[in-house]
Amino acid sequence: MYKDIDILVLGSLDMDLTVETDRRPYPGETLKSRAFYKSPGGKGNNQAVAIARLGGNVAFAGCVGRDSYGEQLVANLAKNNVRTSDILTLDNIDTGLAFINVFRGQNTIISYQGANSQCTIERMRHCEGLIERATILLMQLEIPIDTVIWAASIARRSDTMVVLNPSPAVPLDDELYGSIDVLVLNKFEAQELLGMEVKEDADCEKMIAMFLDQGVKNVFITLGDKGVMYNYKGTVKRRPAYNVKVVDPTGAGSAFTGGLCYALTRGMDIDRAADYASAVAAIAITRMGAQSALPSAMEVERFLATPRN
Ligand code: RIB
Repeated sequence: MYKDIDILVLGSLDMDLTVETDRRPYPGETLKSRAFYKSPGGKGNNQAVAIARLGGNVAFAGCVGRDSYGEQLVANLAKNNVRTSDILTLDNIDTGLAFINVFRGQNTIISYQGANSQCTIERMRHCEGLIERATILLMQLEIPIDTVIWAASIARRSDTMVVLNPSPAVPLDDELYGSIDVLVLNKFEAQELLGMEVKEDADCEKMIAMFLDQGVKNVFITLGDKGVMYNYKGTVKRRPAYNVKVVDPTGAGSAFTGGLCYALTRGMDIDRAADYASAVAAIAITRMGAQSALPSAMEVERFLATPRN
């Protein structure tokens, strides 16, 4: 199959409304914020921009509402050199929103799906050819799961690599597991999908084996400041995290996933790709915001070239 798109992201677009506080409010309490930020978000959107900032050739398919947030999100993707012609603007529904609270290096997110919930198979059928022409189809779980399963089945028969970041985690069926070439998730998502708790490294290795048993070909489990554990083409490995001061962890998973997809399309060997993705995430969490914090390729190269202990 002729491939002229490196990565197609089929996923969500949100406007992130973030307030920074000193702590989390108690139930019933009104707490004043220290700062407010409005920025483009949604895991699909963030991953597409992560790849584009690194220099990747990326197209986006998804849905926004016919409102000013929708317009801003599409314009922002275009500004970041992401192909936007397969984003649908829908009437009578709001663009997706995420209400984010950042406090002392941690966050909570409440999302309103809005137009993302209308990203159905029927609406996305026009993307069939696009999926076939992509080297990687990258998806998350902020759009209907049936659409994810359908798109993965097209990718599978077209020799398009399926990368799934199952966030937020919902149970996956065998058909979808069997279509996943690379599963990228954090340990909480892995726990949720498999219904087991991670207490030590051995549990993580066990979870990787369980995903492989389900038919997934390669698995990356991100472990925050403990690094990343992965099985790629049959070998389980672990790489340490970069030691950085966390300012805002929002979007760290998307930064890692985008960085990994970019590295895979550039033919990096897997250890280098894991380190590259970790560096993208490490830089992102030292700054406020999800998308606004994403680094350029030059910043990542500089970061990787800086000696660390
Ligand atoms: O992972 C961070 C993202 O999750 C935010 O941008 C927000 O929109 C939610 O989708």
